[in-house]
Amino acid sequence: MNRVDITGKRFALTTPLYYVNDLPHIGSAYTTIAADAVARFQRLLGNSVLLVTGTDEHGQKIQRSAEAKGLNPQEFCDEIVPNFVSLWELLNIQYDRFSRTSAPNNGAIVKEFFQRVWEKDDIYLGQQKGWYCVSCEEFKDERELLEGNRCPIHTNKPVEWRDEENYFFRLSKYQDRLLKLYHEQPDFIQPESRRNEVLNFVNQGLQDFSISRVNLDWGFPVPENPKHTLYVWFDALLGYISALLEPDDEPTLAAALSKWFPFNLHLIGKDILRFHAVYLPAMLMSSELPLPNKIFAHGFLTKDGRKMGKTTGNTIDPVALVNTYGTDAVRYYFLKEIEFGKDGDFNEVRFIDVLNADLANDFGNLLNRILGMVKKYCDGNIPSVANENIPAENPLKAIGLHLGEDVKNAYEALTFSQACTLVLSLVQASNKFIDDQAPWTLYKQGQQAAVEKVLYAVLESARLAAYLLSPVIPSISTAAYQQLGFDIDFNNQINAAIAAPYQTHSQWGLLNCEQQLGIPQPIFRRIEPPKND
Ligand code: MSP
Repeated sequence: MNRVDITGKRFALTTPLYYVNDLPHIGSAYTTIAADAVARFQRLLGNSVLLVTGTDEHGQKIQRSAEAKGLNPQEFCDEIVPNFVSLWELLNIQYDRFSRTSAPNNGAIVKEFFQRVWEKDDIYLGQQKGWYCVSCEEFKDERELLEGNRCPIHTNKPVEWRDEENYFFRLSKYQDRLLKLYHEQPDFIQPESRRNEVLNFVNQGLQDFSISRVNLDWGFPVPENPKHTLYVWFDALLGYISALLEPDDEPTLAAALSKWFPFNLHLIGKDILRFHAVYLPAMLMSSELPLPNKIFAHGFLTKDGRKMGKTTGNTIDPVALVNTYGTDAVRYYFLKEIEFGKDGDFNEVRFIDVLNADLANDFGNLLNRILGMVKKYCDGNIPSVANENIPAENPLKAIGLHLGEDVKNAYEALTFSQACTLVLSLVQASNKFIDDQAPWTLYKQGQQAAVEKVLYAVLESARLAAYLLSPVIPSISTAAYQQLGFDIDFNNQINAAIAAPYQTHSQWGLLNCEQQLGIPQPIFRRIEPPKND
Protein backbone atom coordinates (compact mmCIF):
# COMPACT_ATOMS: atom_id res chain seq x y z
CA MET A 1 0.00 0.00 0.00
CA ASN A 2 1.32 3.43 -0.91
CA ARG A 3 1.12 6.49 1.23
CA VAL A 4 0.14 9.34 -1.02
CA ASP A 5 0.75 12.84 0.21
CA ILE A 6 -1.94 15.27 -0.68
CA THR A 7 -0.50 18.41 -2.20
CA GLY A 8 -2.37 19.60 -5.29
CA LYS A 9 -6.02 19.06 -6.10
CA ARG A 10 -7.29 15.72 -4.88
CA PHE A 11 -8.38 13.09 -7.39
CA ALA A 12 -9.49 9.70 -6.09
CA LEU A 13 -10.71 7.03 -8.47
CA THR A 14 -11.57 3.36 -8.43
CA THR A 15 -11.73 0.35 -10.67
CA PRO A 16 -14.38 -2.21 -9.76
CA LEU A 17 -13.35 -4.72 -7.13
CA TYR A 18 -13.03 -7.86 -9.17
CA TYR A 19 -14.62 -11.18 -8.33
CA VAL A 20 -12.05 -13.79 -7.59
CA ASN A 21 -14.04 -16.75 -8.84
CA ASP A 22 -11.33 -17.31 -11.42
CA LEU A 23 -8.11 -15.87 -12.81
CA PRO A 24 -8.31 -12.30 -14.14
CA HIS A 25 -9.09 -11.99 -17.83
CA ILE A 26 -8.64 -9.21 -20.34
CA GLY A 27 -12.09 -7.76 -19.49
CA SER A 28 -10.98 -7.11 -15.93
CA ALA A 29 -7.67 -5.75 -17.19
CA TYR A 30 -9.49 -3.29 -19.48
CA THR A 31 -11.00 -1.09 -16.75
CA THR A 32 -7.78 -1.18 -14.79
CA ILE A 33 -5.68 -0.04 -17.77
CA ALA A 34 -8.09 2.86 -18.30
CA ALA A 35 -8.02 3.78 -14.61
CA ASP A 36 -4.23 3.73 -14.60
CA ALA A 37 -4.13 6.04 -17.62
CA VAL A 38 -6.50 8.47 -15.87
CA ALA A 39 -4.39 8.38 -12.72
CA ARG A 40 -1.20 9.03 -14.68
CA PHE A 41 -2.78 11.91 -16.58
CA GLN A 42 -4.13 13.47 -13.37
CA ARG A 43 -0.71 13.24 -11.77
CA LEU A 44 0.87 15.04 -14.73
CA LEU A 45 -1.63 17.82 -14.11
CA GLY A 46 -0.10 18.14 -10.66
CA ASN A 47 -2.99 16.60 -8.76
CA SER A 48 -2.68 14.26 -5.79
CA VAL A 49 -4.14 11.03 -6.99
CA LEU A 50 -5.33 7.90 -5.27
CA LEU A 51 -6.09 4.89 -7.44
CA VAL A 52 -8.05 2.14 -5.72
CA THR A 53 -8.43 -1.33 -7.11
CA GLY A 54 -8.95 -4.69 -5.46
CA THR A 55 -11.00 -7.83 -5.21
CA ASP A 56 -14.55 -8.75 -4.29
CA GLU A 57 -14.37 -11.99 -2.38
CA HIS A 58 -17.69 -12.84 -0.71
CA GLY A 59 -20.92 -14.40 -1.92
CA GLN A 60 -22.27 -17.55 -3.37
CA LYS A 61 -20.32 -17.43 -6.61
CA ILE A 62 -16.97 -17.43 -4.79
CA GLN A 63 -18.18 -19.95 -2.22
CA ARG A 64 -19.15 -22.37 -4.99
CA SER A 65 -15.89 -21.85 -6.88
CA ALA A 66 -14.00 -22.60 -3.67
CA GLU A 67 -16.06 -25.72 -3.04
CA ALA A 68 -15.38 -26.93 -6.56
CA LYS A 69 -11.67 -26.69 -5.81
CA GLY A 70 -12.08 -28.35 -2.41
CA LEU A 71 -10.83 -25.25 -0.59
CA ASN A 72 -12.38 -23.09 2.07
CA PRO A 73 -13.37 -19.72 0.58
CA GLN A 74 -10.70 -17.68 2.34
CA GLU A 75 -7.95 -20.05 1.20
CA PHE A 76 -9.39 -20.00 -2.28
CA CYS A 77 -9.39 -16.17 -2.38
CA ASP A 78 -5.86 -16.05 -1.01
CA GLU A 79 -4.78 -18.27 -3.90
CA ILE A 80 -6.46 -16.19 -6.59
CA VAL A 81 -5.64 -12.67 -5.40
CA PRO A 82 -1.89 -12.82 -6.21
CA ASN A 83 -2.84 -13.40 -9.86
CA PHE A 84 -4.54 -10.00 -9.92
CA VAL A 85 -1.60 -8.37 -8.21
CA SER A 86 0.86 -9.87 -10.67
CA LEU A 87 -1.27 -9.01 -13.69
CA TRP A 88 -1.46 -5.39 -12.58
CA GLU A 89 2.30 -5.41 -12.31
CA LEU A 90 2.63 -6.92 -15.76
CA LEU A 91 0.34 -4.24 -17.17
CA ASN A 92 2.31 -1.55 -15.36
CA ILE A 93 -0.70 -0.52 -13.29
CA GLN A 94 0.50 1.74 -10.49
CA TYR A 95 -2.35 1.53 -8.00
CA ASP A 96 -2.21 3.03 -4.53
CA ARG A 97 -4.63 0.78 -2.66
CA PHE A 98 -5.63 -2.82 -3.15
CA SER A 99 -8.91 -3.41 -1.33
CA ARG A 100 -9.95 -6.95 -0.42
CA THR A 101 -13.58 -7.07 0.64
CA SER A 102 -13.04 -10.02 2.98
CA ALA A 103 -10.44 -8.08 5.00
CA PRO A 104 -11.28 -7.40 8.67
CA ASN A 105 -11.02 -3.65 8.05
CA ASN A 106 -13.82 -3.87 5.55
CA GLY A 107 -15.83 -5.88 8.10
CA ALA A 108 -15.48 -3.05 10.62
CA ILE A 109 -16.46 -0.38 8.09
CA VAL A 110 -19.43 -2.43 6.88
CA LYS A 111 -20.66 -2.93 10.45
CA GLU A 112 -20.50 0.77 11.23
CA PHE A 113 -22.12 1.71 7.95
CA PHE A 114 -24.89 -0.86 8.43
CA GLN A 115 -25.59 0.64 11.86
CA ARG A 116 -26.01 4.13 10.42
CA VAL A 117 -28.45 2.91 7.81
CA TRP A 118 -30.26 0.77 10.40
CA GLU A 119 -30.66 3.79 12.67
CA LYS A 120 -32.22 5.67 9.77
CA ASP A 121 -34.83 2.90 9.69
CA ASP A 122 -33.78 2.10 6.13
CA ILE A 123 -33.39 -1.65 6.75
CA TYR A 124 -36.25 -4.06 7.45
CA LEU A 125 -36.95 -7.78 7.35
CA GLY A 126 -39.07 -9.10 4.46
CA GLN A 127 -39.61 -12.03 2.12
CA GLN A 128 -37.57 -12.21 -1.09
CA LYS A 129 -38.99 -14.21 -3.95
CA GLY A 130 -37.38 -14.17 -7.35
CA TRP A 131 -34.89 -15.43 -9.92
CA TYR A 132 -31.27 -15.11 -8.89
CA CYS A 133 -28.23 -15.17 -11.16
CA VAL A 134 -25.33 -16.38 -9.07
CA SER A 135 -22.82 -15.20 -11.69
CA CYS A 136 -24.19 -11.64 -11.52
CA GLU A 137 -25.01 -12.05 -7.81
CA GLU A 138 -28.24 -10.26 -8.66
CA PHE A 139 -32.00 -10.90 -8.74
CA LYS A 140 -33.38 -10.63 -12.25
CA ASP A 141 -36.80 -9.49 -13.41
CA GLU A 142 -38.64 -12.32 -15.12
CA ARG A 143 -38.99 -10.20 -18.27
CA GLU A 144 -35.20 -9.79 -18.52
CA LEU A 145 -34.61 -13.55 -18.76
CA LEU A 146 -33.86 -15.47 -21.94
CA GLU A 147 -35.59 -18.69 -22.91
CA GLY A 148 -34.98 -21.49 -20.43
CA ASN A 149 -34.65 -19.01 -17.54
CA ARG A 150 -31.16 -18.00 -18.55
CA CYS A 151 -29.45 -14.78 -17.53
CA PRO A 152 -29.03 -12.35 -20.47
CA ILE A 153 -25.38 -11.77 -19.47
CA HIS A 154 -24.38 -15.28 -18.43
CA THR A 155 -26.31 -16.98 -21.16
CA ASN A 156 -25.05 -20.46 -20.33
CA LYS A 157 -26.24 -20.23 -16.72
CA PRO A 158 -29.84 -20.76 -15.68
CA VAL A 159 -31.01 -18.45 -12.90
CA GLU A 160 -32.13 -20.01 -9.60
CA TRP A 161 -35.44 -19.54 -7.82
CA ARG A 162 -35.24 -18.06 -4.31
CA ASP A 163 -37.96 -17.66 -1.71
CA GLU A 164 -36.39 -16.64 1.59
CA GLU A 165 -36.43 -14.18 4.42
CA ASN A 166 -33.99 -11.34 3.77
CA TYR A 167 -33.21 -7.93 5.12
CA PHE A 168 -34.12 -5.19 2.69
CA PHE A 169 -32.72 -1.73 2.06
CA ARG A 170 -35.39 0.93 1.50
CA LEU A 171 -34.23 1.95 -1.96
CA SER A 172 -37.71 3.14 -2.94
CA LYS A 173 -37.48 5.92 -0.35
CA TYR A 174 -34.61 7.47 -2.34
CA GLN A 175 -36.21 7.51 -5.77
CA ASP A 176 -36.97 11.23 -5.82
CA ARG A 177 -33.63 12.23 -4.41
CA LEU A 178 -31.87 10.08 -6.99
CA LEU A 179 -33.83 11.62 -9.84
CA LYS A 180 -33.01 15.06 -8.48
CA LEU A 181 -29.34 14.09 -8.39
CA TYR A 182 -29.34 12.92 -12.03
CA HIS A 183 -31.00 16.18 -13.09
CA GLU A 184 -28.88 18.52 -11.04
CA GLN A 185 -25.65 16.77 -11.92
CA PRO A 186 -26.19 15.71 -15.53
CA ASP A 187 -22.71 14.24 -15.92
CA PHE A 188 -22.99 12.11 -12.77
CA ILE A 189 -23.53 9.07 -15.00
CA GLN A 190 -21.58 8.82 -18.24
CA PRO A 191 -21.74 8.24 -21.13
CA GLU A 192 -25.11 9.78 -21.94
CA SER A 193 -26.58 6.46 -23.16
CA ARG A 194 -25.93 4.93 -19.73
CA ARG A 195 -27.44 7.92 -18.00
CA ASN A 196 -30.61 7.44 -20.03
CA GLU A 197 -30.66 3.78 -19.14
CA VAL A 198 -30.52 4.62 -15.43
CA LEU A 199 -33.14 7.36 -15.78
CA ASN A 200 -35.51 4.88 -17.45
CA PHE A 201 -34.88 2.32 -14.76
CA VAL A 202 -35.44 4.72 -11.88
CA ASN A 203 -38.44 6.35 -13.53
CA GLN A 204 -40.15 2.97 -13.72
CA GLY A 205 -40.19 2.93 -9.93
CA LEU A 206 -37.56 1.58 -7.56
CA GLN A 207 -38.07 -1.49 -5.44
CA ASP A 208 -36.30 -2.09 -2.17
CA PHE A 209 -33.48 -4.59 -2.56
CA SER A 210 -32.44 -7.40 -0.30
CA ILE A 211 -29.12 -6.99 1.45
CA SER A 212 -28.85 -10.31 3.26
CA ARG A 213 -28.89 -13.98 2.43
CA VAL A 214 -29.70 -17.07 4.44
CA ASN A 215 -28.05 -20.45 3.71
CA LEU A 216 -24.80 -18.74 2.88
CA ASP A 217 -21.88 -18.53 5.26
CA TRP A 218 -19.25 -16.81 3.18
CA GLY A 219 -19.66 -13.13 3.99
CA PHE A 220 -20.01 -10.78 6.92
CA PRO A 221 -22.83 -11.55 9.37
CA VAL A 222 -25.71 -9.06 9.56
CA PRO A 223 -24.90 -7.12 12.75
CA GLU A 224 -28.49 -7.29 14.01
CA ASN A 225 -28.99 -10.96 13.19
CA PRO A 226 -25.97 -13.18 12.59
CA LYS A 227 -28.14 -15.93 11.10
CA HIS A 228 -28.13 -13.76 8.01
CA THR A 229 -25.07 -13.04 5.89
CA LEU A 230 -24.76 -9.66 4.22
CA TYR A 231 -25.36 -9.60 0.49
CA VAL A 232 -22.04 -9.54 -1.37
CA TRP A 233 -22.79 -6.25 -3.16
CA PHE A 234 -23.45 -4.47 0.13
CA ASP A 235 -19.98 -5.08 1.45
CA ALA A 236 -18.38 -4.83 -2.01
CA LEU A 237 -19.46 -1.23 -2.54
CA LEU A 238 -18.17 -0.38 0.91
CA GLY A 239 -14.83 -1.94 -0.03
CA TYR A 240 -14.15 1.33 -1.85
CA ILE A 241 -14.45 3.20 1.44
CA SER A 242 -12.36 0.84 3.55
CA ALA A 243 -9.62 1.13 0.90
CA LEU A 244 -9.18 4.71 2.07
CA LEU A 245 -7.88 3.70 5.49
CA GLU A 246 -4.20 4.36 6.01
CA PRO A 247 -2.21 1.34 7.28
CA ASP A 248 -2.15 2.47 10.88
CA ASP A 249 -5.67 3.96 11.02
CA GLU A 250 -8.34 2.58 13.35
CA PRO A 251 -10.89 0.96 11.02
CA THR A 252 -13.61 3.55 11.51
CA LEU A 253 -15.71 5.43 8.99
CA ALA A 254 -14.41 8.72 10.34
CA ALA A 255 -10.82 7.70 9.59
CA ALA A 256 -11.65 6.27 6.16
CA LEU A 257 -13.59 9.34 5.09
CA SER A 258 -11.17 11.91 6.35
CA LYS A 259 -8.82 12.37 3.39
CA TRP A 260 -9.95 11.14 0.03
CA PHE A 261 -13.71 10.85 0.21
CA PRO A 262 -15.85 11.34 -1.83
CA PHE A 263 -14.45 9.68 -4.93
CA ASN A 264 -14.06 11.74 -8.08
CA LEU A 265 -14.61 8.81 -10.38
CA HIS A 266 -15.80 5.22 -10.29
CA LEU A 267 -14.84 3.44 -13.51
CA ILE A 268 -17.00 0.40 -14.14
CA GLY A 269 -18.37 -1.82 -16.89
CA LYS A 270 -21.94 -1.37 -18.08
CA ASP A 271 -23.17 -4.55 -16.39
CA ILE A 272 -22.68 -3.12 -12.92
CA LEU A 273 -24.15 0.30 -13.60
CA ARG A 274 -27.24 -0.04 -11.39
CA PHE A 275 -25.19 -0.95 -8.37
CA HIS A 276 -23.01 2.13 -8.77
CA ALA A 277 -25.43 4.68 -10.14
CA VAL A 278 -28.51 3.72 -8.10
CA TYR A 279 -27.73 1.53 -5.09
CA LEU A 280 -24.46 3.17 -4.05
CA PRO A 281 -25.71 6.79 -4.06
CA ALA A 282 -28.88 5.73 -2.22
CA MET A 283 -26.81 3.92 0.42
CA LEU A 284 -24.62 7.00 0.79
CA MET A 285 -27.69 9.25 1.04
CA SER A 286 -29.10 7.02 3.75
CA SER A 287 -25.91 7.24 5.77
CA GLU A 288 -25.63 10.97 5.03
CA LEU A 289 -22.32 10.76 3.23
CA PRO A 290 -21.27 12.81 0.20
CA LEU A 291 -21.67 11.31 -3.25
CA PRO A 292 -19.04 10.58 -5.89
CA ASN A 293 -18.64 13.05 -8.75
CA LYS A 294 -18.91 10.66 -11.61
CA ILE A 295 -19.72 7.08 -12.56
CA PHE A 296 -18.42 6.13 -15.99
CA ALA A 297 -19.55 2.81 -17.45
CA HIS A 298 -17.57 1.41 -20.34
CA GLY A 299 -18.72 -1.24 -22.79
CA PHE A 300 -17.89 -4.90 -23.10
CA LEU A 301 -14.95 -6.43 -24.83
CA THR A 302 -16.36 -9.07 -27.06
CA LYS A 303 -14.84 -11.92 -28.94
CA ASP A 304 -16.76 -12.95 -32.00
CA GLY A 305 -19.54 -10.68 -30.82
CA ARG A 306 -20.02 -12.30 -27.39
CA LYS A 307 -19.05 -10.75 -24.06
CA MET A 308 -15.76 -12.17 -22.93
CA GLY A 309 -16.12 -13.56 -19.48
CA LYS A 310 -14.97 -16.10 -16.99
CA THR A 311 -18.42 -17.66 -16.84
CA THR A 312 -18.80 -17.79 -20.63
CA GLY A 313 -15.29 -19.19 -20.98
CA ASN A 314 -14.30 -17.20 -24.11
CA THR A 315 -11.60 -15.06 -22.56
CA ILE A 316 -8.24 -13.94 -23.81
CA ASP A 317 -5.38 -14.58 -21.47
CA PRO A 318 -3.92 -11.14 -20.69
CA VAL A 319 -0.67 -12.65 -19.46
CA ALA A 320 -0.09 -14.41 -22.77
CA LEU A 321 -1.04 -11.27 -24.67
CA VAL A 322 1.45 -9.12 -22.76
CA ASN A 323 4.15 -11.77 -23.01
CA THR A 324 3.72 -11.92 -26.77
CA TYR A 325 3.27 -8.25 -27.59
CA GLY A 326 4.44 -6.20 -24.61
CA THR A 327 2.71 -4.12 -21.97
CA ASP A 328 2.42 -0.84 -23.79
CA ALA A 329 1.17 -2.57 -26.93
CA VAL A 330 -1.72 -4.07 -25.00
CA ARG A 331 -2.48 -0.83 -23.18
CA TYR A 332 -2.40 1.14 -26.44
CA TYR A 333 -4.62 -1.23 -28.36
CA PHE A 334 -7.41 -1.27 -25.81
CA LEU A 335 -7.40 2.46 -25.19
CA LYS A 336 -6.90 3.59 -28.77
CA GLU A 337 -8.90 1.05 -30.67
CA ILE A 338 -11.99 0.69 -28.52
CA GLU A 339 -14.07 3.76 -27.97
CA PHE A 340 -14.38 4.03 -24.20
CA GLY A 341 -18.05 3.63 -23.40
CA LYS A 342 -18.84 1.42 -26.41
CA ASP A 343 -18.43 -2.31 -26.93
CA GLY A 344 -15.38 -3.41 -28.90
CA ASP A 345 -14.44 -6.68 -30.48
CA PHE A 346 -10.98 -8.15 -30.00
CA ASN A 347 -9.32 -9.40 -33.11
CA GLU A 348 -5.68 -10.38 -33.24
CA VAL A 349 -5.16 -9.36 -36.88
CA ARG A 350 -6.53 -5.90 -36.16
CA PHE A 351 -4.44 -5.77 -32.99
CA ILE A 352 -1.23 -6.32 -34.95
CA ASP A 353 -2.26 -3.91 -37.72
CA VAL A 354 -2.98 -1.07 -35.30
CA LEU A 355 0.25 -1.48 -33.40
CA ASN A 356 2.34 -1.72 -36.53
CA ALA A 357 0.64 1.26 -38.13
CA ASP A 358 0.61 3.61 -35.16
CA LEU A 359 3.53 2.67 -32.95
CA ALA A 360 6.01 1.06 -35.34
CA ASN A 361 5.40 2.89 -38.62
CA ASP A 362 4.11 6.29 -37.58
CA PHE A 363 5.55 7.10 -34.17
CA GLY A 364 8.56 4.77 -34.00
CA ASN A 365 9.69 5.63 -37.50
CA LEU A 366 9.28 9.33 -36.94
CA LEU A 367 11.57 9.31 -33.96
CA ASN A 368 14.09 7.14 -35.70
CA ARG A 369 14.10 9.21 -38.85
CA ILE A 370 14.40 12.52 -37.10
CA LEU A 371 17.17 11.43 -34.75
CA GLY A 372 19.04 9.99 -37.73
CA MET A 373 18.70 13.24 -39.65
CA VAL A 374 19.75 15.37 -36.70
CA LYS A 375 22.84 13.22 -36.42
CA LYS A 376 23.58 13.54 -40.09
CA TYR A 377 22.75 17.17 -40.71
CA CYS A 378 23.35 18.80 -37.31
CA ASP A 379 26.12 16.73 -35.72
CA GLY A 380 23.59 15.14 -33.38
CA ASN A 381 22.73 18.45 -31.68
CA ILE A 382 19.28 19.88 -31.21
CA PRO A 383 19.16 22.74 -33.71
CA SER A 384 19.32 26.11 -32.09
CA VAL A 385 16.07 27.55 -33.36
CA ALA A 386 14.04 29.91 -31.23
CA ASN A 387 10.41 28.98 -31.08
CA GLU A 388 9.49 32.57 -32.11
CA ASN A 389 11.38 32.06 -35.36
CA ILE A 390 9.03 29.32 -36.43
CA PRO A 391 5.91 30.92 -37.88
CA ALA A 392 2.54 29.97 -36.44
CA GLU A 393 1.58 28.74 -39.94
CA ASN A 394 4.20 26.02 -39.77
CA PRO A 395 1.93 22.99 -40.12
CA LEU A 396 3.41 21.25 -37.07
CA LYS A 397 3.43 24.29 -34.86
CA ALA A 398 -0.14 25.02 -35.96
CA ILE A 399 -1.24 21.63 -34.63
CA GLY A 400 1.13 21.70 -31.66
CA LEU A 401 -0.13 25.01 -30.34
CA HIS A 402 -3.56 23.66 -29.40
CA LEU A 403 -2.80 19.95 -29.12
CA GLY A 404 -1.98 19.97 -25.39
CA GLU A 405 -5.32 21.58 -24.59
CA ASP A 406 -7.27 19.30 -26.93
CA VAL A 407 -5.64 16.17 -25.55
CA LYS A 408 -6.27 17.36 -22.01
CA ASN A 409 -9.96 17.74 -22.83
CA ALA A 410 -9.99 14.27 -24.33
CA TYR A 411 -8.36 12.64 -21.29
CA GLU A 412 -10.68 14.54 -18.98
CA ALA A 413 -13.68 13.31 -20.93
CA LEU A 414 -12.19 9.78 -20.81
CA THR A 415 -12.14 9.65 -24.61
CA PHE A 416 -8.79 7.90 -24.69
CA SER A 417 -9.20 6.92 -28.30
CA GLN A 418 -9.68 10.56 -29.24
CA ALA A 419 -6.61 11.55 -27.20
CA CYS A 420 -4.47 9.01 -29.08
CA THR A 421 -5.93 9.95 -32.46
CA LEU A 422 -5.21 13.63 -31.87
CA VAL A 423 -1.60 12.86 -31.00
CA LEU A 424 -1.28 10.59 -34.00
CA SER A 425 -2.43 13.41 -36.25
CA LEU A 426 0.66 15.39 -35.20
CA VAL A 427 2.86 12.34 -35.73
CA GLN A 428 1.46 11.78 -39.21
CA ALA A 429 1.72 15.45 -40.08
CA SER A 430 5.36 15.32 -38.97
CA ASN A 431 6.18 12.41 -41.24
CA LYS A 432 4.49 14.22 -44.10
CA PHE A 433 6.31 17.45 -43.27
CA ILE A 434 9.66 15.68 -43.57
CA ASP A 435 8.67 14.26 -46.95
CA ASP A 436 7.37 17.61 -48.18
CA GLN A 437 10.33 19.65 -46.95
CA ALA A 438 12.96 17.08 -47.98
CA PRO A 439 15.66 18.31 -45.59
CA TRP A 440 18.20 16.13 -47.45
CA THR A 441 17.73 18.34 -50.53
CA LEU A 442 17.90 21.54 -48.48
CA TYR A 443 21.10 20.21 -46.96
CA LYS A 444 22.62 19.51 -50.34
CA GLN A 445 21.65 23.01 -51.41
CA GLY A 446 23.54 24.34 -48.39
CA GLN A 447 20.42 25.78 -46.78
CA GLN A 448 21.49 24.90 -43.25
CA ALA A 449 19.16 27.37 -41.49
CA ALA A 450 16.17 25.94 -43.34
CA VAL A 451 17.26 22.37 -42.52
CA GLU A 452 17.50 23.23 -38.86
CA LYS A 453 14.05 24.79 -38.77
CA VAL A 454 12.53 21.67 -40.29
CA LEU A 455 14.38 19.35 -37.95
CA TYR A 456 13.56 21.37 -34.88
CA ALA A 457 9.86 21.42 -35.70
CA VAL A 458 9.83 17.67 -36.18
CA LEU A 459 11.93 16.87 -33.11
CA GLU A 460 9.68 19.03 -30.99
CA SER A 461 6.57 17.39 -32.39
CA ALA A 462 7.97 13.94 -31.65
CA ARG A 463 8.66 15.10 -28.10
CA LEU A 464 5.16 16.47 -27.64
CA ALA A 465 3.64 13.27 -28.99
CA ALA A 466 5.71 11.16 -26.60
CA TYR A 467 4.67 13.31 -23.68
CA LEU A 468 0.97 13.33 -24.49
CA LEU A 469 0.89 9.56 -24.98
CA SER A 470 2.68 8.87 -21.71
CA PRO A 471 -0.46 8.05 -19.69
CA VAL A 472 -1.21 5.30 -22.23
CA ILE A 473 2.24 4.00 -23.15
CA PRO A 474 4.47 5.16 -20.30
CA SER A 475 7.47 2.96 -21.08
CA ILE A 476 7.57 3.80 -24.79
CA SER A 477 7.19 7.49 -23.94
CA THR A 478 10.02 7.21 -21.45
CA ALA A 479 12.29 5.62 -24.07
CA ALA A 480 11.39 8.36 -26.54
CA TYR A 481 11.90 11.11 -23.99
CA GLN A 482 15.26 9.74 -22.98
CA GLN A 483 16.37 9.60 -26.61
CA LEU A 484 15.36 13.24 -26.84
CA GLY A 485 17.72 13.95 -23.98
CA PHE A 486 15.39 14.15 -20.98
CA ASP A 487 16.24 12.44 -17.75
CA ILE A 488 12.60 11.66 -17.07
CA ASP A 489 10.95 8.35 -16.35
CA PHE A 490 7.18 8.42 -16.72
CA ASN A 491 6.98 5.31 -14.59
CA ASN A 492 8.27 7.32 -11.68
CA GLN A 493 5.08 9.32 -11.64
CA ILE A 494 5.75 11.66 -8.79
CA ASN A 495 9.14 12.69 -10.23
CA ALA A 496 7.72 12.97 -13.74
CA ALA A 497 4.94 15.23 -12.47
CA ILE A 498 7.52 17.52 -10.90
CA ALA A 499 10.10 17.41 -13.70
CA ALA A 500 7.66 17.41 -16.60
CA PRO A 501 4.39 19.04 -15.51
CA TYR A 502 1.57 19.11 -18.02
CA GLN A 503 1.43 22.88 -17.92
CA THR A 504 4.85 23.23 -19.54
CA HIS A 505 5.51 19.92 -21.28
CA SER A 506 2.20 19.91 -23.15
CA GLN A 507 3.22 23.14 -24.90
CA TRP A 508 4.80 23.04 -28.35
CA GLY A 509 8.25 24.70 -28.47
CA LEU A 510 9.82 23.42 -25.28
CA LEU A 511 12.93 21.68 -26.64
CA ASN A 512 16.03 23.73 -26.37
CA CYS A 513 19.43 23.36 -27.90
CA GLU A 514 21.27 23.08 -24.57
CA GLN A 515 19.95 19.57 -24.24
CA GLN A 516 22.03 16.56 -25.36
CA LEU A 517 20.19 14.00 -27.44
CA GLY A 518 20.43 10.38 -26.34
CA ILE A 519 21.24 7.32 -28.41
CA PRO A 520 18.59 6.48 -31.00
CA GLN A 521 17.03 3.06 -30.61
CA PRO A 522 13.80 1.65 -32.01
CA ILE A 523 11.03 2.36 -29.49
CA PHE A 524 8.63 -0.20 -30.92
CA ARG A 525 9.58 -3.14 -33.07
CA ARG A 526 7.27 -4.08 -35.90
CA ILE A 527 5.25 -7.20 -35.12
CA GLU A 528 5.39 -9.95 -37.70
CA PRO A 529 1.88 -11.35 -38.17
CA PRO A 530 1.70 -15.07 -37.28
CA LYS A 531 2.06 -17.30 -40.34
CA ASN A 532 -1.08 -19.15 -41.38
CA ASP A 533 0.10 -22.61 -42.43
N1 MSP B 1 -17.36 -7.78 -8.10
C1 MSP B 1 -18.13 -7.01 -8.98
C2 MSP B 1 -17.77 -5.54 -8.87
C3 MSP B 1 -17.90 -4.98 -7.48
S1 MSP B 1 -17.41 -3.33 -7.42
C4 MSP B 1 -17.64 -2.89 -5.84
C5 MSP B 1 -17.91 -7.48 -10.39
N2 MSP B 1 -16.78 -8.12 -10.64
S2 MSP B 1 -16.38 -8.78 -12.04
O1 MSP B 1 -15.06 -9.31 -11.86
O2 MSP B 1 -17.37 -9.68 -12.49
O3 MSP B 1 -16.36 -7.64 -13.07
C6 MSP B 1 -15.60 -6.52 -12.84
C7 MSP B 1 -15.60 -5.60 -13.99
O4 MSP B 1 -15.04 -6.22 -15.13
C8 MSP B 1 -16.98 -5.09 -14.37
O5 MSP B 1 -16.91 -3.68 -14.52
C9 MSP B 1 -17.23 -5.72 -15.69
O6 MSP B 1 -17.98 -4.89 -16.54
C10 MSP B 1 -15.81 -5.86 -16.22
N3 MSP B 1 -15.78 -6.88 -17.24
C11 MSP B 1 -15.98 -8.22 -17.10
N4 MSP B 1 -16.00 -8.76 -18.34
C12 MSP B 1 -15.83 -7.79 -19.26
C13 MSP B 1 -15.67 -7.75 -20.63
N5 MSP B 1 -15.75 -8.81 -21.38
N6 MSP B 1 -15.39 -6.56 -21.20
C14 MSP B 1 -15.19 -5.42 -20.47
N7 MSP B 1 -15.33 -5.42 -19.18
C15 MSP B 1 -15.81 -6.55 -18.58
O7 MSP B 1 -18.76 -7.24 -11.22
